[in-house]
Amino acid sequence: MSFDAVIDVKDVTKSFGGLTAVNKCSLRVERGSITGLIGPNGAGKSTLFNMVAGNIVPDSGSIYFDGEDVTGVPPYKLFARGLLRTFQIAHEFSHMTALENLMVVPGDQPGERLANIWFRPDFVRKAEHHVRQKALDVIDFLKLGHVKNELAGNLSGGQKKLLELGRTMMVDAKVVLLDEVAAGVNRTLLQDLAANIERMNEELGYTFFVIEHDMDLIGRLCDPVIVMAQGEVIAQGPMEEIRANPEIIEAYFGSPVEAA
Ligand SMILES: Nc1ncnc2c1ncn2[C@@H]1O[C@H](COP(=O)(O)OP(=O)(O)OP(=O)(O)O)[C@@H](O)[C@H]1O
Ligand SMILES: [Mg+2]
Repeated sequence: MSFDAVIDVKDVTKSFGGLTAVNKCSLRVERGSITGLIGPNGAGKSTLFNMVAGNIVPDSGSIYFDGEDVTGVPPYKLFARGLLRTFQIAHEFSHMTALENLMVVPGDQPGERLANIWFRPDFVRKAEHHVRQKALDVIDFLKLGHVKNELAGNLSGGQKKLLELGRTMMVDAKVVLLDEVAAGVNRTLLQDLAANIERMNEELGYTFFVIEHDMDLIGRLCDPVIVMAQGEVIAQGPMEEIRANPEIIEAYFGSPVEAA
């Protein structure tokens, strides 16, 4: 079979007290795809993401990344292996410039290893130069050159989102999880964000797994789209099929309204 699953979720369940947030869920994300995950509030989407990213350990079931069982593997280890999720720029980083925010992403930076500092200073200098160059490349790629020396805290909401996306480019990410990254971003910057996700996918080979409530954005970016409701996967396919399926619209919107 030609399908190459970079993420393979098998029969995963997670309950909080008496509430089953994710119920025997199975789904796969194909390498090189931009896969969407939609569903009503409380469907279990973020809980599923948290399990894939290692933030929550499932009660049962398994999660495979790149063919290996990573169930229960902590986030920092998954991060090192190229499975990333975006995070809001933390408060303490808002006093650093956009460029510096990229340069501090924990990557494979030899400068942080003490032995290298003592024994191989020249190597460290070169590595720092490399990190700076990479950060400048990312800034260029995202067309943030005009704000690269601006404090991150002064960036607009949308520019911050672009910077968050940029942080994933500082390590050699294979898969990036985006949980409502477009929320609160204006239309123009939303188009920039979408265009950058597409470029990272097409030009750099990133796989994206995207939770969004904005159906236009999902329709533009994602194929396939996976639909969750009440902790279960209820459908999967191209957005046109999802939009055309009255049962899904009913489950998603709670009433048969027009798809956005
Ligand atoms: N840490 C937690 N403790 C208790 N209940 C939780 C916890 N996290 C999530 N839940 C519950 O699990 C269910 C699924 O939540 P989840 O955040 O995964 O939904 P979601 O699909 O991401 O929704 P939304 O679209 O609103 O973000 C909800 O009923 C939620 O209240
Ligand atoms: Mg959520």
